[in-house]
Amino acid sequence: MIEPTPEPWAQSHMLLLALSRWDNEGGSVASRATAGSPAAGPRQSEYRIAVVVGSLRGDSLNRQLANVLCELGPAGFSFRQTRIDDLPLYNQDDDANQAASVKRFKAEIADARGVIFVTPEYNRSIPGVLKNAIDHASRPHGGSVWAGKPAGIAGVSIGAMGTSMAQQHLRNVLACLDVPTLGLPEVFIHAREGFFDNDGKVPAASRTFLQSWMDHYIAWVRQHAAL
Ligand SMILES: Cc1cc2nc3c(=O)[nH]c(=O)nc-3n(C[C@H](O)[C@H](O)[C@H](O)COP(=O)(O)O)c2cc1C
Repeated sequence: MIEPTPEPWAQSHMLLLALSRWDNEGGSVASRATAGSPAAGPRQSEYRIAVVVGSLRGDSLNRQLANVLCELGPAGFSFRQTRIDDLPLYNQDDDANQAASVKRFKAEIADARGVIFVTPEYNRSIPGVLKNAIDHASRPHGGSVWAGKPAGIAGVSIGAMGTSMAQQHLRNVLACLDVPTLGLPEVFIHAREGFFDNDGKVPAASRTFLQSWMDHYIAWVRQHAAL
């Protein structure tokens, strides 16, 4: 007898539980990239992926998660975390004369074959700094660099729902910008104390799940590159 496919929300819930449980097995997969920097090192990179972290906090859990994700891409992919902390507050009056940091950010997104957003949840939505960055790169009207960039979304929170509301809001924003966004699997991580160890590593079972998510995202990027 064929097992019925679980509902997507049920799968997400299971993943959340899987990700937030302690794993005593230890062990980790060898790093294939240096987090926070061009991940591919000297090798040729066919696909550059921009990674946008929605937190400016020094000890950001989401930046740690982004660092882990940046290690999981295959050969031919490189990951670069883009700065958003130097962007001014968006003001439409500046559309004709965008700041140098805005031009840099837009160029990094334009140059990328895809984008991964790793974001906290602030008051049941995305942080203002992330929305500010997204708005900047969508302007001036007709000059958005977002359209068609295959996106993945992940997030970690100390809250039990693991950024699910923020991610849903982000999907709404990205739809308006014609950004095709990977649906499943979803990465809702509830970070209990010790989820990241002192070296920023996650438990082996969680890393296995994140690898699976990355494999889905890579396929998503390739699929859109072929269109
Ligand atoms: C202004 C603010 C609002 C927050 N709202 C939520 C929330 O709605 N849901 C949630 O799960 N956590 C919320 N948190 C807690 C964050 O999940 C937690 O601070 C998290 O560590 C932030 O991500 P970071 O470590 O990447 O900076 C909020 C934190 C702040 C500072």
